[in-house]
Amino acid sequence: MRLAVIGGDGIGPEVVAEGLRVLRVIEPKVEATDYDLGARRWYATGETLPDSVLAELREHDAILLGAVGDPGVPSGILERGLLLRLRFELDHHVNLRPVRLYPGVATPLAGEHTIDMVVVREGTEGPYAGAGGTLRRGTPYEVATEESLNTRFGVERVVRDAFHRARARPRRRLTLVHKTNVLTNAGDLWLRTVAEVAPEFSEIQVDYQHVDAASMFFVTDPGRFDVVVTDNMFGDILTDIGAAITGGIGRAASGNLDPSGKNPSMFEPVHGSAPDIAGQGIADPTATVLSVAMLLAHLGRTEDAARVEAAVAASLAERSRPRNGYLHDQISTREVGEDLAARVAGYTG
Ligand code: NAD
Ligand code: IPM
Ligand code: MN
Repeated sequence: MRLAVIGGDGIGPEVVAEGLRVLRVIEPKVEATDYDLGARRWYATGETLPDSVLAELREHDAILLGAVGDPGVPSGILERGLLLRLRFELDHHVNLRPVRLYPGVATPLAGEHTIDMVVVREGTEGPYAGAGGTLRRGTPYEVATEESLNTRFGVERVVRDAFHRARARPRRRLTLVHKTNVLTNAGDLWLRTVAEVAPEFSEIQVDYQHVDAASMFFVTDPGRFDVVVTDNMFGDILTDIGAAITGGIGRAASGNLDPSGKNPSMFEPVHGSAPDIAGQGIADPTATVLSVAMLLAHLGRTEDAARVEAAVAASLAERSRPRNGYLHDQISTREVGEDLAARVAGYTG
């Protein structure tokens, strides 16, 4: 396995080290190449993602990324110049974000909920596309626009992907989330596309929800969702809510996929560089380890992926149990990584 590793900024390298620790148990001979991209490189050279590095990244089977973003770097330079550039150049149009509550994990929700959904977030279009601009900057007449780009091609391919995923899951439900009551151009395109593709998947129960209502139901009744398909920005916001209702942002994994296989897919935790806790060795690496499981599944290593997920499930159940009056999950990044690696190795169950 040829793996490109981009630790990135803040807690990125800390959590990626633990993801690699677990991966090496499964695949001791993994050929992991570190790429020094992120704030440090930008400070030193002004580069975010040189073309030559992008060309090298393309030669890998997959990419594992920690996080990008640094309080000292103007907002957007690294996010757009590195992370989004990777997603766009490598055609990561399916941003897959499972939202799953593992047994025994504490959730801030009142009552019992079964949460097991997957958000299929469009990854290359929407308001992220970069269309728009600023006029008369710094004057009282300043105008700033950010246009949402939605193409029939882009919407249809992610909608089809979501339908296929719904077909492979027991509940066979698909919810389109948008804001068709206000965003009438893009909303109409998404609605029509889902309606036109749906007859090919007649066994799937399809419904629609506006994003504001969906945000509420994510919190009050998450069990109603199975596969959620949505645009780039709504998917970004919904999946942080998804993380919060399933035990926290430190446990939410994602895959940026090019399902055609033409480009390497990229796996990363949903969270960012967490400057507030960076360098302290306390970030939860579980999201990164679960992203490694997604990476294995993507490369066809289904059993290995299941092994990693089982280790995470067992560890989460134990970490969620109070011990001596405090939560056992107040342990270090490295302790969690070592515990998960040991479980994967089969020393504990
Ligand atoms: P964030 O996800 O970095 O942090 C939000 C909160 O969650 C913070 O309090 C942080 O301490 C906590 N948190 C995050 N990951 C955690 C973990 N593994 N364990 C424990 N706690 C964790 O979001 P933010 O503060 O809005 O953004 C910080 C920077 O990260 C910004 O530059 C932003 O652009 C960037 N960002 C990058 C990515 C990415 O690389 N995919 C994702 C989100 C944000
Ligand atoms: C995420 C992040 C990114 C996004 C940012 C950092 C560009 O929030 O991966 O969820 O908005 O997609
Ligand atoms: Mn986000």
